[in-house]
Amino acid sequence: MNFPYINQIIVHNCYASKGFNIPKEPLGVFKHIVLTGKNGSGKTTILNRIGLILNYLQDGKTKEQAIRSLADSINIYKNNPTRSSWEQSISELKDIDIIFLNNNFEYFSNNEPSINLFFKAHRRIELQEVKTVTIEEDFLSTLNKHKNTDDFTKLFKQYLVNKKVYEAFDYMGNKTSKINQSQLFFSNLKDILGNVLEDKGLELVFVQESFEFYIILSDGRKITFNNLSEGFSAFLSVVMDLLTRTDLIRKQKDDFQYQPNGIVLIDEPETHLHLSMQYNMLPLLSSLFPNIQFIIATHSPAVISSLENTMVYDLTSKNEVADDIIGSSYSELMINHFGLTNEYSPIVSKIFEEVNIAAKNKDTEALRSVLAKYETFLTPALKLDIEFLLIKIKNGCHD
Ligand SMILES: Nc1ncnc2c1ncn2[C@@H]1O[C@H](COP(=O)(O)OP(=O)(O)OP(=O)(O)O)[C@@H](O)[C@H]1O
Ligand SMILES: [Mg+2]
Repeated sequence: MNFPYINQIIVHNCYASKGFNIPKEPLGVFKHIVLTGKNGSGKTTILNRIGLILNYLQDGKTKEQAIRSLADSINIYKNNPTRSSWEQSISELKDIDIIFLNNNFEYFSNNEPSINLFFKAHRRIELQEVKTVTIEEDFLSTLNKHKNTDDFTKLFKQYLVNKKVYEAFDYMGNKTSKINQSQLFFSNLKDILGNVLEDKGLELVFVQESFEFYIILSDGRKITFNNLSEGFSAFLSVVMDLLTRTDLIRKQKDDFQYQPNGIVLIDEPETHLHLSMQYNMLPLLSSLFPNIQFIIATHSPAVISSLENTMVYDLTSKNEVADDIIGSSYSELMINHFGLTNEYSPIVSKIFEEVNIAAKNKDTEALRSVLAKYETFLTPALKLDIEFLLIKIKNGCHD
């Protein structure tokens, strides 16, 4: 059965502007969607509204059914204090419509498992301490109830501990296929951590006495999930959440190759990440979770240009960003898409401006002062150019 991926987003209202479609013509095929645009252009609002509609769909309700049932509740429970939040939800649901690639809503109402999540802009892994192993069935039902990504990632360590301990039980009971599945999970996790931390030789070690997992880096450093740096923590909070949910669905389907479908919204995935990691993030996510459509809001040129199978939409200009702009150099991307006036840093621009004025006025004093003032910022080539200009002016051959 085909999963209903997003084909077009009809925006009626996102505070900043009204009445436009993302993209202008429906995609027609499976593509990831990247939203860019200046601060306040409506990116987060749109992700938020998509998340709201997806939540209702997961509960088996279309947007229209959700609005009707909220309106019914408002009518029935006239003095209920949550009335204003119901009214707000109705108004927010009316802000956008989603057109799906196929109108296959039964997918949701048939309770087919899928992964539909919204990762908000400021994320971090805050894992709960693990004191004991929990009964598997109970724990899985708790996990399944946690749709909210923040609550879910807190339980990730418990999930890992349970998996390790049940692996030991399976070992005693000679359940080879279950042991293999568990070992495959941990070996995948180790590879993913190696990729994210850019350290292919790291090891993931479980200390059974303290129920703690340690990541041992190649240089011998030993860290826990809780003391990862901000950038790794933000990124891994997304990866680990998706990984755990994938594992749960695989268990439910009893198929450990199964690739779950879904729509995952991420606001500013570049938060805290170094440029090279910003560039790797989407390719890694889309290769780990090939049947998930990612809808991203970003300010990063590295994120925008990192994936081929993507439609980039600029909320400021209300246009799709053409592939040739995405495929161009970072400096062209900065000028043509992010609206910078040139490819140089503000300091270099200032140097150029002062040199141009001095050259126009044939002012050798001003040129000497540029050389002195910006000495540490001048590249050897630029310094030579200015000195050459000085000589030309002095010899009267500059015009
Ligand atoms: N509840 C609200 N009521 C009124 N206006 C709102 C509300 N929420 C957001 N806005 C306004 O809507 C506009 C779009 O905000 P939004 O957060 O979606 O922008 P954004 O593109 O995500 O910006 P940034 O890049 O800074 O994160 C802003 O002008 C914001 O002030
Ligand atoms: Mg935002």
